[in-house]
Amino acid sequence: ASTLGAQAAQSGRYFGTAVAAGRLGDGTYTTILGREFNSVTPENEMKWDATEPSRGRFNFGPADQIVNGATARGQRVRGHTLVWHSQLPGWVNSIRDANTLRGVMNNHITTVMNRYKGRIHSWDVVNEAFADGPSGQLRSSVFRDVLGNGFIEQAFRTARSTDPAAKLCYNDYNIEDWNAAKTQGVYRLVRDFKARGVPIDCVGLQAHFGAGGPPANFQTTLSSFAALGVDVQITELDIAQAPPNAYASTVRACLNVARCTGITVWGIRDSDSWRASENPLLFDRGGNKKPAYRSALTAMGGT
Ligand code: G3I
Repeated sequence: ASTLGAQAAQSGRYFGTAVAAGRLGDGTYTTILGREFNSVTPENEMKWDATEPSRGRFNFGPADQIVNGATARGQRVRGHTLVWHSQLPGWVNSIRDANTLRGVMNNHITTVMNRYKGRIHSWDVVNEAFADGPSGQLRSSVFRDVLGNGFIEQAFRTARSTDPAAKLCYNDYNIEDWNAAKTQGVYRLVRDFKARGVPIDCVGLQAHFGAGGPPANFQTTLSSFAALGVDVQITELDIAQAPPNAYASTVRACLNVARCTGITVWGIRDSDSWRASENPLLFDRGGNKKPAYRSALTAMGGT
C-alpha cells in the first residue's frame, strides 16, 4: 500500500498520529490526516485539565471534535489519558483526603470513559506514574501520595468495569531500554497485575527518541512485555532530526513482535510537534513527506 495506515493494516496493525483540535481547520493538516492514518490520539483534549477543569463540570467539546472527525474519516481512536500527575487541575492536586480523591478519580474515569464508550480502541488509563532515574519506583504525585501505590490498580479496575471492550494500557516514556530501572519497574507492575488478575491489556511505550533512535534492545523490551500476556503499542513516536534509519528500526521492532499492535507518531508535520525545533516527525512544515516517511513506509513493506 502507499499510505502508512493502509500498509500497517495489512498486518492487522494501526498507524496513528496525535491530533490537536485547534489544527482541524488547516487543510494541509487534515488532508494528510485523512490520507495517511487509521488511528488518532487527542494530543491534549482528553486530559483532565481539558475534560474536568472544575469538580464535576465536564467539558467534552474539543475531544468530541476529534472523535467525531475520526469517526467520519473511518479512523480508530486511542484515549489519552485518564490518570496523570501532569495537566491536572489544581483542585485535584490539592485534595488531601483519600476517600475524596478515590471518589474523584473513579468519577473522572467513569464519566470520561462512558462518554466515548465503544469508540476508543485503547485507553491510557494511567500515564507516566514511574519515576525517572535508578529507583524503579512510582513517582510522587497526589495520587500516589494520598492513595498509595494501589491507585494504579484502582484505576484499572474502575476502567475495566466502565468499558469492558476497551484495551486498558499503562503508558510511559523512557521505558524503551530494557536495562533501564524504569523499564524494570513497569515490567514488575505488569507482571504483578497479570499474576493477581488485575485487568491490564497493554503497555504503551511513548518512544520520544533522541537522534540515535531506539536503543539496540528495544525489540527485546517489546517482546518481554508481550511475553507477560499484554499487547504493546508505540504511542508517541518522534525522533530528533528524524533519521530515516531510526524510524525504520523502530517500525521493524514493532513488526517483529506479534503483540505490537500499532504505532502512533506524536504529530503530523514538524511544525505541529511539541519538540518542533528538533524536526522529529515524518512531514515537513509544508506538509511534504520527509525521507523518514519513505523509510517508515518501506520498513512495513509499502511502496
Ligand atoms: O490550551 C492552552 C491555551 O489556552 C494557552 O493559550 C496556551 C499558552 O501556552 O497553552 C495551551 O496549552 C498548552 C497545550 O499544550 C495545548 O497546546 C500547554 O501550555 C502546553 O504545555 C501543552 O503541551 C502539551 C504537553 O503534553 C503538556 O504536558 C503538548 O502539546 C503535548 O504534545 C504533550 O504531550 C505529552 C503527552 O501527553 C504525554 N507524554 C509526553 C508528551 C510530550 O510532552
